[in-house]
Amino acid sequence: MSVQALAAGDYEEINPGSLDRAHRYKLFTGTVIPRPIALVTTLGELGQVNAAPFSQFVIVAVDPGMLGFSIGPGPRGDKDTLVNVRREREFVINTVTSPLAQIVQHCGEDMPPDVSEVEVTGLGVLPSVHVRAPRIAQSRVQFECRLERIVEVGSAPNHFVIGEVLLVHIEKGLHEDCRIDTRRYDPIGRLGGRNYSRLGDIIET
Ligand SMILES: Cc1cc2nc3c(=O)[nH]c(=O)nc-3n(C[C@H](O)[C@H](O)[C@H](O)COP(=O)(O)O)c2cc1C
Repeated sequence: MSVQALAAGDYEEINPGSLDRAHRYKLFTGTVIPRPIALVTTLGELGQVNAAPFSQFVIVAVDPGMLGFSIGPGPRGDKDTLVNVRREREFVINTVTSPLAQIVQHCGEDMPPDVSEVEVTGLGVLPSVHVRAPRIAQSRVQFECRLERIVEVGSAPNHFVIGEVLLVHIEKGLHEDCRIDTRRYDPIGRLGGRNYSRLGDIIET
């Protein structure tokens, strides 16, 4: 199969530094898609469960297993997740499947630190084994993480949070020998704005 090549004249050049933040955000989050979503649960200072989605989310290492997500500046300063991770040094990454799209969008709204997104949205929680933050019962796969480090990036600043995975909880029947049944998993990705995608055709190579 041949892939059509574009000519140099088919492209526009955009210097990201010449854009305002809102346009840079739109350009990046509309083109780097679909992004998997980490619904991160942390414990607040008073023991309330905080849940916030982060789609700037990636596998950082496999030996040992580490996952990372990037937290941007919040409207009131540091986001609750960052404050909680700094204090508790642990968190849970709950993966997100299609029935959770609306709830995840709701969890992404700015709420005061003493308000639990879990309670507001009616999500269920299950206890974790190695960390104090609970996991989300509607999530099919959860990663209990211990903070490895927080890397400060850029001038905003953004905080890239890296966690070592201590334990993976995976719904029974979702894998065979660690090979995931992708269709059954039914993950969603974040697109630009308030849009999400499900799996389309799977391309076997
Ligand atoms: C699907 C989705 C993905 C998001 N991804 C990010 C992200 O990667 N980084 C970020 O800083 N905010 C992201 N947000 C916004 C945060 O979830 C939002 O600021 C949230 O209120 C933070 O909650 P917290 O203050 O409880 O930590 C995302 C929102 C949604 C709905």
